[in-house]
Amino acid sequence: MKRLEGRTALVTGAARGIGYEIALMFAAEGASVMVADLSAEESAAAAADIAAKTGAKTAGLGLNVAREEDCEKAVDGTVAAFGRLDILVNNAGITKDGLVLRMKQEDFSAVIDVNLKGAFLMAKAASKSMLKARSGRIINMASVVGQAGQAGQANYAASKAGLIGLTKSLAREFAPRNVLVNAVAPGFVRTRMTDGLKEEAKAKICEMIPLGRICEPAEIAKAALFLAGDDSAYVTGQVLAVNGGLYM
Ligand SMILES: NC(=O)c1ccc[n+]([C@@H]2O[C@H](COP(=O)([O-])OP(=O)(O)OC[C@H]3O[C@@H](n4cnc5c(N)ncnc54)[C@H](O)[C@@H]3O)[C@@H](O)[C@H]2O)c1
Repeated sequence: MKRLEGRTALVTGAARGIGYEIALMFAAEGASVMVADLSAEESAAAAADIAAKTGAKTAGLGLNVAREEDCEKAVDGTVAAFGRLDILVNNAGITKDGLVLRMKQEDFSAVIDVNLKGAFLMAKAASKSMLKARSGRIINMASVVGQAGQAGQANYAASKAGLIGLTKSLAREFAPRNVLVNAVAPGFVRTRMTDGLKEEAKAKICEMIPLGRICEPAEIAKAALFLAGDDSAYVTGQVLAVNGGLYM
């Protein structure tokens, strides 16, 4: 029995990286999946690719999660395509790294707008139908950096720490209607976001990780799958750390 048979999911930032892996795994587990990312073309291409690999119903749409009307359209589009929305994954995220002394205000705001405000806007848009249905799952992609802090990433760390506070508050607000809200906090995952690091930096990072290696995107998708499925029916307001022991 597939674990998400008959469910529908909307995954932001799903044209590549961790989001793509989550969309693929959810589709393989029987969900109908809306791939939502900045480019409508790339979203459609990823959706077609996932459909070909899994046989699931998929569709793609373009959105900027920092824009309220885009978020509302994405939720409406998902309901129009698949009839309902059961699972929202707020995965879209960006970095604009720099030391605080040199960080421009615009770079701070841009990261907060996408990583934190975007999740708020998407959760708000999705909550209308989930609360009405008295069922739903919202999964926010936080980061170990939001838990431990990181020099050179004050904007990103603040956005991800904020996302953890948002997760817990939404969990409390939505629990009476059986809408469960949790976060996944990955450590260092092998994606385009980390591919840019020099080999030397990667080796240093691995030395700090008790499990001694960088995480694969599918390992994050498995955590999201747990939080999306029936096995986590009594779990809400939690931060599931998938970081190889980097932060305990
Ligand atoms: N890679 C890591 O090591 C790591 C670690 C911890 C947390 N994360 C988090 O996981 C999530 C996915 O990261 P990734 O490594 O796959 O990154 P990625 O850059 O490969 O993918 C991010 C996706 O989000 C999309 N996106 C960016 N801004 C958007 C916007 N305004 N609206 C809609 N889509 C937008 C991008 O187009 C891209 O497809 C992010 O939230 C990131 O902060 C990543």
